[in-house]
Amino acid sequence: MCGIIGYTGKSNNAKEIVLTGLKNLEYRGYDSAGIALTLNNKITLFKSKGKIVNLEEKLMDDSINSSTAIAHTRWATHGEPNEINAHPHQSGKITLVHNGIIENYLDLKTYLIKQGVTFQSETDTEVACAYLNFIYQTQKDKLKCIHEACQAFRGSYAFAILFEDEPEVIYATRKDSPLIIGIGSEGNFAGSDISAILDYTSQYMLLEKGEIARLTKDQVEIFDENNAPIQKEIKQATWSATEYKKNGFEHFMLKEIHEEPSVIEQIFHSHLADETLQKIDFSKFQEIHIVACGSAMHAGMVGKYLFQNYTKIPVTVDIASEYRYNTQLINEKTLVIIISQSGETADTLAALRLAKQEKATTLAIVNVVGSTIAREASLCIYTNAGPEIAVATTKGYTSQVAILSLLVLNAMKQKGLLSKELEQNVLKDFENIHSILNQVIKNDTIYKAIAKRLYQQNDIFFIGRGIDYALCMEGSLKLKEISYIHSEAYAAGELKHGTISLIENGTPVIAIATNDKLFEKTVSNIEETKARGAYTIFITTDNLNADSFESFSDITVSLPKTTDFVQPIVVVTILQLIAYEVAKLRGCDIDKPKNLAKSVTVE
Ligand code: G6P
Repeated sequence: MCGIIGYTGKSNNAKEIVLTGLKNLEYRGYDSAGIALTLNNKITLFKSKGKIVNLEEKLMDDSINSSTAIAHTRWATHGEPNEINAHPHQSGKITLVHNGIIENYLDLKTYLIKQGVTFQSETDTEVACAYLNFIYQTQKDKLKCIHEACQAFRGSYAFAILFEDEPEVIYATRKDSPLIIGIGSEGNFAGSDISAILDYTSQYMLLEKGEIARLTKDQVEIFDENNAPIQKEIKQATWSATEYKKNGFEHFMLKEIHEEPSVIEQIFHSHLADETLQKIDFSKFQEIHIVACGSAMHAGMVGKYLFQNYTKIPVTVDIASEYRYNTQLINEKTLVIIISQSGETADTLAALRLAKQEKATTLAIVNVVGSTIAREASLCIYTNAGPEIAVATTKGYTSQVAILSLLVLNAMKQKGLLSKELEQNVLKDFENIHSILNQVIKNDTIYKAIAKRLYQQNDIFFIGRGIDYALCMEGSLKLKEISYIHSEAYAAGELKHGTISLIENGTPVIAIATNDKLFEKTVSNIEETKARGAYTIFITTDNLNADSFESFSDITVSLPKTTDFVQPIVVVTILQLIAYEVAKLRGCDIDKPKNLAKSVTVE
């Protein structure tokens, strides 16, 4: 949610440097953007509505050269996306960019108005800026001023700040919103994440809550909450700048779907020996809580079915924003599995902190190395899926499901529930997963034909039972996110309790039935929709005779049959591709769907 970058250095190219960083951060928000450049010792602002290309156009003039800049790409929280509300904000001697939410901004604003301060925008950020400026009038020590102001802020923030009287020095601080400090040979950086700086340096430091970084052209100093200088470990980024490029694909989403065969194969091969995974002693836990948001929560749903069906451990799955504010029965015998691609989602992080406070064992499944959730959980398993740029997650989701499958298999082994036969079948699936997923991806005639049938529809329903229902939820979300077609996922047996009233002649129903035990039940539910005129797309497995489905299925997709530990990944890949093709036919901005952002660091 919102991306920030700052650069100060020997190069006179700060404008290009921060624009490159902003483009890499654009997945965090893209409704407006802005930059503050120090030109002839004066801080000058440029802002534009919409994507970063619009800002870039305003900065075409080659005479705009600077060696210091802070910049921002916005996902609006307070105030509509327009130039006035876009960051950076300026008040008196302070210019800043912000990621997060200042929850008590109205109180602070009222107070400042009484002191004679005036405001231009509707944002909480301008209030933070004005408050800093207000403190700076009496507290001339910049570090003390930042500390004092931040103490008054409730909520979350990552700030990059310029002071008018020291315009080539960037100050940066954070609480509950991510911020890293990059160290380059030609200059220094502050950025929301590593992608902001990777084109220029791979060396970075993590800034902890309340610490302040002071960046000059050739030095980075970090101060703790008492303004004492501290030494920080310099880390080396594990991802490279090329992984952040489309590499010939039309969209990041398509590239990331094509990476799934290798990512999942790698997980199944390397994680079998993963130390953290082996270390988890399931006999210690009476129950498991899985907590996450969005697609990560849907991955958790698959995990729940697998855990309960195969290990008999009771599992609940909760949306993090619900979990954190409702009474939870957590104790030392609870394993709380926190799932997050970014490792920064605000609600998921808060749920993790709650679980830790209640003395649960916390296990994070995270993609971004060194992210807050990864650092704060007692145990962490990385999905190692590589950077995911498209806002709609694909390989992020399947890699989470793959890790959950491995966890369940491990728990089964520990409990003596994994038969030799099943183990061998699973290992065979692991061996073949690359070619199975490739086969699904390459068979584009089928998902392109489905997309053609769907792209002009207004409402689409997904139905399934058990794990297939969990997959319906993800397939439906994917479609909604990127194509803007209304869609709902229903447990197949539940449809008749109300929603079937929406089925009309030609309404598309995508039914998933991959579980042999539930197959006939789901087929009955498809028949019920067919009897009411639905156009049915039936997704099943190739161990069954597709010819017999003609009576109830208009289009049948037969996917390779695997064990339950791999099947969800196979099924969801085609759902991702259907959503992608539908969105493409509708001319949508697939990688940057409207109103969404990838890293949701506000609650
Ligand atoms: C956003 C993204 C989703 C993602 C969710 C949780 O809504 O658009 O794709 O599933 O956040 O993100 P996380 O990083 O915690 O997995």
